[in-house]
Amino acid sequence: MDYCEYRDGRLFCEQVDVERIAEQVGTPVYVYSAATLLHHYRAMAEAFSELNARICFSIKSLSNLHVLRLLAGEGSGFDVVSGGEVARARVAGADLSKVVFSGVAKTDREISEAIDAGIMLFNVESAAEFENISRLAAAAGTKVRAALRINPDTYDPRTHEKTTTGKKGTKFGVDIELAEEFFEAHGRDEHVSLDAIDLHIGSPIYSAGPYVQAIERALALIEQLQARGFAIRTLDLGGGYAADYEQGASPTAERYAADIVPLLKDRGLEIVLEPGRQIAGNAGILLTRTQYVKQGASKRFVIVDAAMTDLLRPALYGSEHFIYPTRLGEGEQPPPRRMDYAAPGAAKVDVVGGVCESSDFLCKDRLLPPVTRGDLLAVFTAGAYGFVMSSQYNSRPRPAEVLVEGDSFRVIRRRETYEDLFDHERD
Ligand code: LLP
Repeated sequence: MDYCEYRDGRLFCEQVDVERIAEQVGTPVYVYSAATLLHHYRAMAEAFSELNARICFSIKSLSNLHVLRLLAGEGSGFDVVSGGEVARARVAGADLSKVVFSGVAKTDREISEAIDAGIMLFNVESAAEFENISRLAAAAGTKVRAALRINPDTYDPRTHEKTTTGKKGTKFGVDIELAEEFFEAHGRDEHVSLDAIDLHIGSPIYSAGPYVQAIERALALIEQLQARGFAIRTLDLGGGYAADYEQGASPTAERYAADIVPLLKDRGLEIVLEPGRQIAGNAGILLTRTQYVKQGASKRFVIVDAAMTDLLRPALYGSEHFIYPTRLGEGEQPPPRRMDYAAPGAAKVDVVGGVCESSDFLCKDRLLPPVTRGDLLAVFTAGAYGFVMSSQYNSRPRPAEVLVEGDSFRVIRRRETYEDLFDHERD
């Protein structure tokens, strides 16, 4: 669900005609809707309110400070995976006591900074990391809290192989059958209170089923741990809640909650959720201008000014984003956002960028209405893992980011310049 819609044949983000943004800010440009971000944040908080769950927005999905500030203002906590993300949370004015820190490779510097920041929870992924956190907490003269990230060995068959994490054999967490042993070895540490369980099964997960399975395994473990005298206060369910890449494809927060909440009600556990994509995904579109249209012997290419450097997901995962012109033809109905939608006069095209790689495409063999040089296209559901995965490959300055609020918009990250490209290489 998002607040982007066609009105009188033109695409609007909230009350703003997106063509106005493209004209003033240039293309490619990421456009975020504040109302959509808030809608999804609030829907998540509301759906899990019976559990009084702490929503820790996953910064990695969309890390612009202005977006983080907006969510912090709603009371959001944050899921971080690096020192840089702790710094972002701080600068965005987040309450750092609502920050959880995941990641398999936390460095001494990152751990110490997070200890100083007074974060809520370290999600620990190995014994060696636990021992290191304990050592650094002792050196800082303090005691910190940690969750053991377990690998519950569940997964969603629709999750891409590169983004599944809750299955045996991935680098994440500790295999669930080793968890009791882990607590016996570390559960009575002087400097780290190991009193929580964490899991993250992958992203995106298109149904509640895999969560239910993982939670049941986690609850069984918690009971076994309690029988051994280890009190568990917190259960962190991670992220992975899907977004609508196609209209209505993702379960709503309410839908996930309907299956998850009954399992956790009255358990006396503090619940943490780390959603990224479900809050940010539909809140962003990428606007790109058609540069050329090229008809090959067997293929037609729409060549645009955005590329894999701006939106890497299609190249990296074969992900599909709905793409459509921001201006409809005379009398044309707004398109349903489905990859197989055939508009009147549509022909199959590849939408590609200008990077010197054949993996540089935004979509392949997609039915699009006739497009000509200068036409503006919108790439939908680009808010999560869009700008944050952009790069300067081919010495392409990164695009601008814009935040729309009602009938106004502002640039929240200026377009990079050539100067930005070589700024760090000066003598
Ligand atoms: N928590 C942990 C520990 C995670 O690793 C992730 C995502 C999240 C929360 C948030 O997941 P979300 O709610 O956004 O699904 N670049 C890929 C996605 C990688 C996800 C990595 N971890 C993509 O573009 O699909």
